[in-house]
Amino acid sequence: MDHFELRGGILHCEDVALPAIAAAVGTPVYVYSASTMKRHVRVFRDALGGLTDPLIAFAVKANPNPAVLATLATQGLGADVVSGGEYQIARAAGIAPDRIVFSGVGKTATEMEQALRGGLFQFNLESLDEAEMLSTVAVRTGIEAPIAFRINPDVLAGTHAKISTGSAHNKFGIAYSELAAAYKRARDLPGLKVQGVAVHIGSQLTSLDPLEAAFTRIGEAIFELRAGGHDIHVADLGGGLGIPYDPAEPEPPSPADYGRMVQRVTEKWDVRLVFEPGRLIVGNAGILLTQVIRVKPGPDHPFVIVDAAMNDLMRPSLYDAWHAFEPVRPDGEDMIADIVGPVCESGDTFAVDRRMGRVGAGDLAIFRTCGAYGATMSNTYNSRPLAPEVLVNGSQWAVVRPRIAVETMLAGMPIPDWVGN
Ligand code: LLP
Repeated sequence: MDHFELRGGILHCEDVALPAIAAAVGTPVYVYSASTMKRHVRVFRDALGGLTDPLIAFAVKANPNPAVLATLATQGLGADVVSGGEYQIARAAGIAPDRIVFSGVGKTATEMEQALRGGLFQFNLESLDEAEMLSTVAVRTGIEAPIAFRINPDVLAGTHAKISTGSAHNKFGIAYSELAAAYKRARDLPGLKVQGVAVHIGSQLTSLDPLEAAFTRIGEAIFELRAGGHDIHVADLGGGLGIPYDPAEPEPPSPADYGRMVQRVTEKWDVRLVFEPGRLIVGNAGILLTQVIRVKPGPDHPFVIVDAAMNDLMRPSLYDAWHAFEPVRPDGEDMIADIVGPVCESGDTFAVDRRMGRVGAGDLAIFRTCGAYGATMSNTYNSRPLAPEVLVNGSQWAVVRPRIAVETMLAGMPIPDWVGN
């Protein structure tokens, strides 16, 4: 459920009419609903109701806008960060250090030091080399580093190959067969405090089966490691639960189904569970508001050319992702069209042969379910300024990232005076 609905024939975000935002800020623009995010936090928390004090660490990569993170911080969420930048933004947005986990295969010594000095709940390490590096940093700074290893359970996540992470062929985690040696080495390294295990097998998962298989493996690991004398009292189960995009597809499992499965599988673990949901919390809390520039005839059906492009929303061109497209003022008629942006690549296509509400030049429309991996993955390809972001809460709204003007981009790219010498 979300708060983007028709009222009086016009799409609103909560109590704000989308044309009002377009008039004030221009298009394309990302619009987020704070009430939708808060609702998803509540739904996820309720789904985990039977667990003792789970840590819900929002995957910052899904939407690192500080106003979004601050909204989630007020709901008690922590953060899963994967870079020094995400760590810094999460802290600036008010996320408590003892609710931050640091993931990723390529943490640098500088990033490790930043998080150690600033404080965090846990590093999720993905290799022994990383453990050695962290140990050096911990000894140098005199701050003990709480760690878990991310286990690669070698399961097929059944999602798009580019967002699957739990197979042995992916770069993530350490193999089950290497666990005992890794934990033993980590225990012997100075400055590290071994406290847990972690797993994350991929994103937009539409079945619980691979998750259950992975968690079962993690359960086995916990008991084996304890038998080896390790004090394992944290299990980070990652994120990845899918959300509905295309109403024609079967609905992914609900948070409640996920919660029941987790409680069943983890019942005897005696650990504090950590979760890293991203998409589930913010996915359908955001839309991309765009204007139709023109409708161009095509061989089979027209091209609807909108002012948003692949640089603003990369998901369709990167993963063939499906995003609903709807006119802001639907007139009850529909049409079949290809929806494309202005960028000079055929890959700049949002939808092919799409049956959708009729739009014409000058009309406003939205792409739905853009709150996760939307603005955060945008770029300035074709020298298109980054789209602004707006946060709505009831009848209040604010620009939480202004449009980056081309002048600002130019000012940041000096031309050396020796050019042409
Ligand atoms: N934890 C870790 C270690 C992750 O790598 C990710 C996502 C998450 C948690 C959050 O996963 P979620 O709950 O959001 O599925 N750009 C892609 C998605 C990439 C996901 C990367 N890792 C997309 O637009 O679909």
